[in-house]
Amino acid sequence: AVRQLLASPPAPPASPQTGHNWRCDPYATPGDQYGTARALVAAGNLREVCIERLKESGLRGMGGAGFPTGVKWEIVAGERATPKYVICNADECEPGTFKDREILASLPHLIIEGMLLAGLTIGAERGIVYIRHEYGRERRALEAALESARQQGVLGGNAAGSGRPFDIEIFVSPGGYILGEETALLEALEDKRGEPRNKPPYPGQHGLWGQPTLINNVETFALAVSIIHFGTDWWSEQGRDEAEGLKFVCVSGDVTEPGVFEIPLGTTVNEVIEMAGGMRDGIPLKAFLPGGASTAFLPAASANTPLTFDALRAAGSALGTGAVIVLNEQRDLFDLATSLVRFFRNESCGKCVPCRLGSQTAVELLDGVADGQRRASELEILPELGETLLQTSICGLGQVALTPILSMLRHFPDEVPEQSAS
Ligand code: NAI
Ligand code: SF4
Repeated sequence: AVRQLLASPPAPPASPQTGHNWRCDPYATPGDQYGTARALVAAGNLREVCIERLKESGLRGMGGAGFPTGVKWEIVAGERATPKYVICNADECEPGTFKDREILASLPHLIIEGMLLAGLTIGAERGIVYIRHEYGRERRALEAALESARQQGVLGGNAAGSGRPFDIEIFVSPGGYILGEETALLEALEDKRGEPRNKPPYPGQHGLWGQPTLINNVETFALAVSIIHFGTDWWSEQGRDEAEGLKFVCVSGDVTEPGVFEIPLGTTVNEVIEMAGGMRDGIPLKAFLPGGASTAFLPAASANTPLTFDALRAAGSALGTGAVIVLNEQRDLFDLATSLVRFFRNESCGKCVPCRLGSQTAVELLDGVADGQRRASELEILPELGETLLQTSICGLGQVALTPILSMLRHFPDEVPEQSAS
């Protein structure tokens, strides 16, 4: 019965909230939901199937960093200390990123089932969804789905008939970009000041209250269910050319119809722009950010790059969160890059000196060049400053703080304001 369930995917349903057909949702009706977990519990091989399928599929973390999901689950499953915890990071704050918002609203049952499968795999009894404080509609959708899962016996003292307890609570993030960094998030959950911890040790070994903790992004949990349900052959077939799998992308900026799209990995940036209705008012593409504010600008000439981890890295950027920010010929890229560096400066928690002072130094210089008070030649210090931040900052924020301006200067040196370029 398990093999049948896992081998014969039903037609994708239409989401009641959005009307979208999400290919990753294995369930045609609400009555079918949680069937994957129930079947694996009944078969008695849940842990082995989950780890094997996630590792074989090569699914990578969709929060932005791309760490192999199956490896992470296996590491935490192998830890002996108890209790353990499962945390869903739903504190989506990366500028341009809003795909988790859509998944929370329209596929909350997949997040719950992904966390349940993870909990039963690693031996946790408690799951926490750490959600962005502005996401009220999404929190309510999740609360309703959690209540329904409890009533069905999917969560509770005998979770999905496993004989083991597992339940999920929601924790609303106190707010602030850095509180979505996974170790700052742990500090906030422990009621401490939300600053990142040094890594290693990683949360998988030393997480919430010092215990082994599995932290995955919203999309990662949702996609994990589809892989565990449909199998790795199905997952491979979803991709294009060499790429395997699906990805949620959120397209914003100078397109006609910004939105969230579920695409085969390997779809090109040009194709994604077409899905979003093409360039707004027909104004040609100048540049784009393929994966949110932490990733490097690429020029229009790179828009045939497939959206994959490897292809975007080879092009000099990254898939990041899958937030494709599209910029037309009329955009002032120097101003835009400066505002992104300013964002990182504003959101720096100030714990480490290179990030706190380096981001401020960069903003002062960029503002000075923009208003003609500083010479454009002074921008030459930025690559060295960026390298210092990359090497010495504790967390990802400081490491990427100068990425927007460095990539903009690399591809568009002529965009430096003219009055100070002499
Ligand atoms: P990271 O590379 O330090 O870690 C990624 C994940 O893998 C973490 O869960 C970490 O615990 C785990 N990990 C890494 N090495 C490990 C090891 N040796 N053993 C066990 N586990 C290991 O990246 P980080 O700092 O967690 O994330 C940075 C990314 O976050 C950026 O690239 C950015 O794209 C993204 N981001 C996303 C945001 C959003 O709103 N979704 C907001 C801000 C940043
Ligand atoms: Fe805080 Fe920046 Fe250091 Fe991260 S790199 S811990 S945000 S000061």
